[in-house]
Amino acid sequence: MEIKITRAEVLKEKPDSSTLGFGKIFTDHMFIMDYSREEGWHDARIVPYGNISLSPASTTLHYGTEIFEGLKAYRRPDGEIQLFRPLENARRLNRSCDRLCLPELPEEYFMEALTTLIDLDRDWVPSAEGTSLYIRPFLFGNDETLGVHAVNHATFMIILSPVGSYYKEGLNPVSIMIEDQDVRAVRGGTGEAKCGGNYAASNRAGDRAEKKGYSQVLWLDGVERKYIEEVGAMNVMFKISGTVVTPKLTGSILPGITRKSIVEMLKNEGYKVEERLLSVDELAQSMADGTLEEAWGCGTAAVVSPIGELCYKDKVYTVNEGRIGELTQHLYDTLTGIQWGKAEDTYNWTLKI
Ligand code: PLP
Ligand code: COI
Repeated sequence: MEIKITRAEVLKEKPDSSTLGFGKIFTDHMFIMDYSREEGWHDARIVPYGNISLSPASTTLHYGTEIFEGLKAYRRPDGEIQLFRPLENARRLNRSCDRLCLPELPEEYFMEALTTLIDLDRDWVPSAEGTSLYIRPFLFGNDETLGVHAVNHATFMIILSPVGSYYKEGLNPVSIMIEDQDVRAVRGGTGEAKCGGNYAASNRAGDRAEKKGYSQVLWLDGVERKYIEEVGAMNVMFKISGTVVTPKLTGSILPGITRKSIVEMLKNEGYKVEERLLSVDELAQSMADGTLEEAWGCGTAAVVSPIGELCYKDKVYTVNEGRIGELTQHLYDTLTGIQWGKAEDTYNWTLKI
């Protein structure tokens, strides 16, 4: 793949690390590539970050033919930059494409686009504790037609954003509301794809939760509203009577790369891990009788995020007295140690750029 690079004439000023937040600031450049059924993927280019032009009839604006990924570049203590399991993102992107009938992108194109863009904007990878460069690859249908069908034209892009903590609480425990009205996804639907529509469908409940003071909602399965699924931007894990329980991947949950990594780490360290259906009643019982020892969410943006409070049907439960649990802290330290290159990567998960 040949990538044509047009450099920005004026580079932006880098932000102060303490003001980063999540996804508000963008780097100097972005990657774009087009697809048509006749030509396949073509015209790979890196251009200055800026607005793009779309037909008002573009399929993505009307029918939500959009999927995305999320990963991070980390600044190591020795100044080098590394990615965490980027091929997993390339593979998930293609599984999402398959579900939405979008053209798949060869993994080597994904990797080359990613590494070339990050290399060009490498000065944007921040080095302050807990900061990183969030990478947002996305792919959307771009036919100029109002007909509903699999697309003939698509666009793949990558934008970069230096970020701090996803939650304003940082590593402090977050409060989560268990949603019992709206549902996010059903098996056979698009829940296991990382498509924009899933997030659009979750906004109403998220907004309700936020108004009540909760950071995000915890979704129940869409059929019986009985089984725990995941949080809006992270998978969930619970330590109940010494065993780590996480909802199994039934088809309506996003198969998180952080989730997969933590399950591998826990098993490797000798912890008992169960990937199974976990009903909200079982969880409520474990909170009531004190067998729920810890709860946390995990994801690229959220890293490992302790859950200090869960609200279900207006009843509020405190987890581990609202403090970060020992295992949660251990997982945060181990995972971030590998991601930021502070600990040896015995799993071979990182890729230096
Ligand atoms: N679940 C949802 C709905 C997400 O948006 C994310 C974030 O990507 C995750 C789970 C965690 O996935 P990952 O660990 O691959 O970032
Ligand atoms: C991520 O963790 O990469 C996510 O996609 C979360 C995002 C929806 C903010």
